[in-house]
Amino acid sequence: MTFDRKIRIAPSILSADFADFGREIRAVEDQGADWVHVDVMDGHFVPNLTFGPPAVKAFRKHVKTFMDVHLMIAPVDPYIEAYAEAGADLISAHVEAGPHIHRTLQAIRAQGVKSGVVLNPGTPVEAVEHVLDLCDLVLVMTVNPGFGGQKFIPSGVEKTRRLRAMIGDRPIHIQIDGGVTPETAPLVAAAGADVLVAGSAVFRGGSADDPAPYGANIRALRAAAEAVRGDMA
Ligand code: DX5
Ligand code: ZN
Repeated sequence: MTFDRKIRIAPSILSADFADFGREIRAVEDQGADWVHVDVMDGHFVPNLTFGPPAVKAFRKHVKTFMDVHLMIAPVDPYIEAYAEAGADLISAHVEAGPHIHRTLQAIRAQGVKSGVVLNPGTPVEAVEHVLDLCDLVLVMTVNPGFGGQKFIPSGVEKTRRLRAMIGDRPIHIQIDGGVTPETAPLVAAAGADVLVAGSAVFRGGSADDPAPYGANIRALRAAAEAVRGDMA
């Protein structure tokens, strides 16, 4: 895949019907999703539990686009290989998820998958400055990780602006995760973000049996973000 900064919408399946992942994934992709975002939680790094490698492997069979696996687990290093083998196209890990983020990013790339580093709302942008050359993506969390449906934390906008300047012309995506809606998407898109994760704002109002609202939700997010991009894309 060639690099560009076009707006990409990545629905988080944390907001999907947990009894029907295959059809939910196919529904959001048919309705225009660019990536599928998988939130992995361990009940330790974050206060919630979700998907082990066998679940992610089962999702993989249904993902035709790009499977972005957000690991909210600590320690993270012992599980990188298993999630890569489960079929992740990209694995992202939090700065705080182990003692050596540089080594973690090297380990992700060594598996032949794309690598991402994640900044919690309280983590300064400078925490990733010296690992950018090991990253295909930096994820700026705009909620505290653990749950969908939380309110957007506005300090992520200025953080995104600073990160965008720090990245310069390196081919690194800026992803935003948490509280992304048609109201908040333009704020982060104008600041330089290009990949927008959205759980509740994509899945609200629809279902695998009635997927049209997913399409309308994805189009609303994309239009709101693109409207402020000017020539940045
Ligand atoms: C939170 C997760 C998010 C979450 C986003 O820990 O990383 O991906 O599902 O959900 P919304 O879009 O509802 O804030
Ligand atoms: Zn996420």
